[in-house]
Amino acid sequence: MSPSSTLYLAVFAAFLSTVQGQILLPGLCADHSVVQNFSVGDYLGAWYEIENTYADNQIDGICVIANYSDFGNGSVRVFNTQVNSETGELQSALGSARPLDPTKNEAKLMVNFPFMGPLESPYWVLDTDYTGYSIVWSCRPAPDGVNSYQTYWFLSRTRTPTDITRGYVRGYLTALKFDLSYLEETLQTDCPN
Ligand SMILES: *[C@@H]1O[C@H](CO)[C@@H](O)[C@H](O)[C@H]1NC(C)=O
Ligand SMILES: *[C@@H]1O[C@H](CO)[C@@H](O)[C@H](O)[C@H]1NC(C)=O
Ligand SMILES: *[C@@H]1O[C@H](CO)[C@@H](O)[C@H](O)[C@H]1NC(C)=O
Repeated sequence: MSPSSTLYLAVFAAFLSTVQGQILLPGLCADHSVVQNFSVGDYLGAWYEIENTYADNQIDGICVIANYSDFGNGSVRVFNTQVNSETGELQSALGSARPLDPTKNEAKLMVNFPFMGPLESPYWVLDTDYTGYSIVWSCRPAPDGVNSYQTYWFLSRTRTPTDITRGYVRGYLTALKFDLSYLEETLQTDCPN
């Protein structure tokens, strides 16, 4: 991605998971396994963002909701809403997600929003129970060939996941050597959406 398109995404897509919160990390994208026999149907519906990586220049979104439904053509409709924490404005964006390889039932999706043009962001589901939590990871190699742009986040079916669920997710990420210090809580209180 060129620097200008990176800036464009940072400015206009500050809140969209997979393009928001991209952090530059040393090393290439790891070979993490994703959910196999992935049931898109069970994954549809609303997910509340609980934690996400945040870039320094990013305006924090609060009350972030990702709401997935079926486009009916093999793609998932992605409707994200959030409140801009600085302006209080309710914002939304409509995009789509397609399976990277439709012949495999694995949880590797490619997400696009219209303002991204032809670019797509990986959306890898590392682990989910469909009814409680989802752990999502997006990684792309950096142009320098040795680093990578990464985002990882924790979605929940409720705004207030239990401490047990929180602990499980953190344990899962820790076992995969993700740095939890990049994660920030996404406020989900007093939300209008
Ligand atoms: C895949 O998931 C379906 C239900 O969604 C289940 O019936 C089937 O047994 C699963 N297959 C494997 C190999 O796990
Ligand atoms: C998610 O979208 C569905 C329609 O597809 C709607 O009925 C539901 O209220 C939405 N959920 C949230 C939390 O926005
Ligand atoms: C499915 O339809 C949506 C909305 O028109 C579109 O954005 C998406 O690219 C389509 N997906 C495929 C695989 O054709």
